[in-house]
Amino acid sequence: MKKLVIISGGLGVMGQSFAGALTEDGYDVLLLDVREAAAGESIIGESFRCDINNEKDVEKLNDYLIRSKAEIHGLINNASCQPKGFTKELEDYPVDTFRQVLEVNLVGSFLLTKTVIPFMQRQKSGSIINIGSIQGVVAPTFEIYDGMNITSPLVYSVAKAGIIHFCKWVAARYGQWNIRCNAVSPGGLADSQRSGSDFEKIYSSKTPLGRMVKSGEVAEVISFLLSDKSRYITGQNIIIDGGWTIH
Ligand SMILES: NC(=O)c1ccc[n+]([C@@H]2O[C@H](COP(=O)([O-])OP(=O)(O)OC[C@H]3O[C@@H](n4cnc5c(N)ncnc54)[C@H](O)[C@@H]3O)[C@@H](O)[C@H]2O)c1
Repeated sequence: MKKLVIISGGLGVMGQSFAGALTEDGYDVLLLDVREAAAGESIIGESFRCDINNEKDVEKLNDYLIRSKAEIHGLINNASCQPKGFTKELEDYPVDTFRQVLEVNLVGSFLLTKTVIPFMQRQKSGSIINIGSIQGVVAPTFEIYDGMNITSPLVYSVAKAGIIHFCKWVAARYGQWNIRCNAVSPGGLADSQRSGSDFEKIYSSKTPLGRMVKSGEVAEVISFLLSDKSRYITGQNIIIDGGWTIH
């Protein structure tokens, strides 16, 4: 039987990078996303439309998993969102935006974890990985956003701090079933939109390794955390930031 890994936000940049690496590792990959793949969009993995905050969608996922009879080897809580108003200053911050970011990061991850835990308990194995961020570990260096029209809002920091702590609780509760739960916290991603931008330059100048992270570098750590090589690692937050958080 092939091993299944579920990735929330699986159609996004990191989700697709994880899907590529995990397919190479021999896993079946199920991509949960609130959006449908666009016509002609080439995607790696099997797509399953699912708003992770919608209990009915998550129930459909549960039915699908029961029917598939797959071994649910892993869950990657990766989905996040940047709704309208995401980068506003706190004084003007829309409460709906604040709620939505918390919902996708925390409530959605709770619903998915709640769904996979009984499968993993029956198997007596499983690896859950939450995608955090350096923003959940240290406060933002606000000067890097000066004149950039972007910032890192309070809600993102508290959502990511929450998802990092989430894994410690799950690790403590479910270790007895050999279920591991770890967080991975990347620094800023070197994506095609940022390539060569002033933001990339200033961010890189403040990073000991002098550059932003590549999604493939995060995928390699995900691959490790799903593998038997990490069998004694649980409840940890692995920071992949080129040294950003050491000061
Ligand atoms: N991009 C970065 O610089 C960076 C840095 C550190 C951490 N991260 C984290 O990495 C993860 C992935 O980031 P990314 O850059 O690939 O983002 P992305 O926007 O490319 O992907 C996120 C995906 O989540 C999906 N999504 C949003 N709401 C959803 C919902 N309710 N249900 C299901 N799917 C939903 C979106 O449709 C999207 O496909 C996020 O948790 C993000 O916070 C990103």
